[in-house]
Amino acid sequence: MTWSATEVGVLARAAERAPSVHNTRPWALEMRVDGVDLFERPEAWLPRHDPGGRDRTISCGAALANLRLAVRALGWDVKVSLFPQPVRADLVARIVATEHGEPSESEVVRYTAIFRRRSYRAPFGLHPVPATEVRELIRADVTEGTGVHALRWSDAPPLAELLGYTASMLRGDRAYQRELQAWSDQFREPLPDEPTLPWGGLVRPQTRVPDVLTLTERLREECLLVVLTDDDSRRDHLLAGVALQEVWLTAVARGLAGSVLTQPLQLPEVRAGLIERLGLPGHPQAILRLGYPVTAPPIAARAARTTGAPS
Ligand SMILES: Cc1cc2nc3c(=O)[nH]c(=O)nc-3n(C[C@H](O)[C@H](O)[C@H](O)COP(=O)(O)O)c2cc1C
Repeated sequence: MTWSATEVGVLARAAERAPSVHNTRPWALEMRVDGVDLFERPEAWLPRHDPGGRDRTISCGAALANLRLAVRALGWDVKVSLFPQPVRADLVARIVATEHGEPSESEVVRYTAIFRRRSYRAPFGLHPVPATEVRELIRADVTEGTGVHALRWSDAPPLAELLGYTASMLRGDRAYQRELQAWSDQFREPLPDEPTLPWGGLVRPQTRVPDVLTLTERLREECLLVVLTDDDSRRDHLLAGVALQEVWLTAVARGLAGSVLTQPLQLPEVRAGLIERLGLPGHPQAILRLGYPVTAPPIAARAARTTGAPS
C-alpha cells in the first residue's frame, strides 16, 4: 500500500490536534509505505517547566493516540511498536497499517472528538459529573501499564495544599515566568490574569491563589482524574500520554471539557506528597480536570509544519 495525499493529510491533521506541553508539538512524523513513524524532537525543550522532558514524551504519547485512531478511521488495522529501534532514541513509535479493518463505532467517535478537544481552563458549569460517567471514563483507559484514578472528596484538602504550595513557588520564579510568557507570545494564547482553575498550572506573578479552604471547595466541584503509570521510565511517559488522550477524547465525546495539569508534578516534593497523602497506587503523570463547559474554549494557534516524505 502507499498513502494517498489525502490520507497523509488525515494523519498529519490528527497528530497536529494533539495536546502538548506549552503547545510545543514536540514531535515529527515520517511517512512510510505501510505506516508512519513518530519521532520526539528533543530540541523542543522547556528547561524551567520540563527539565527532564517528561511532559515532552507525554505529549508524543497524545499524538500517538491520535495517529492510531486516524489509521483506524482510514479503515486499517494497526500495530504499534514503541521504541522499535534502540539505537534511535528519538523514534518513539512505529505505527503500521496491517490489513483492512473497519473501525468500531467508539473509535470513530473518539477520532471525531480529536477536532473538538481543546484545553478548557475556565470554571465549569454547576452540574457535577455523575459517578456513572466517571466510571465510564476510567474504563476508557485500556493502555497497558497505566491506570486512571479518580480523586475522592477526602483528597481535596491535601491536593489544595499542594497546589497552593506549587502556585506560591511558581509565582516568584522569574525564569519560569519568562518561559511561560514566551510561550504565550509565540502562540498568541492569552494568559489568565485572574486565578483560573485549578490555580497550580498557569500561575502568573499577579495570580491571586485562593486560601486552602476555598481551593478545597472549588476542587470538590470538579471531576479530577490522575493518570498513573506502573513505573517512571520514558516508555511509561509515552504510555501515560496515550492514556491521557484516550480518556480526554472519551470525555469530549460525552459532552465534557477539561484541561490537563502537570506543572505541580514537576516539583519532586509535590509529586511525592501526592503519592503519599492521596495514597496513589502508581506514579502520577498528569491530572485531568473535567466538567461541563459553560463557554467555548479558545482555540490554540498551530503553526504549519510539514511531514517527511514516504520512505
Ligand atoms: C504533557 C502536557 C502537559 C501540560 N501541562 C499543562 C499545565 O500544567 N497547565 C495547563 O494549563 N495546560 C497544560 N497542558 C495543555 C497545553 O498547554 C495545551 O494542550 C496546548 O497549549 C494546546 O492547546 P489545546 O489543548 O487547546 O489544543 C499540558 C499538555 C500536555 C500534553
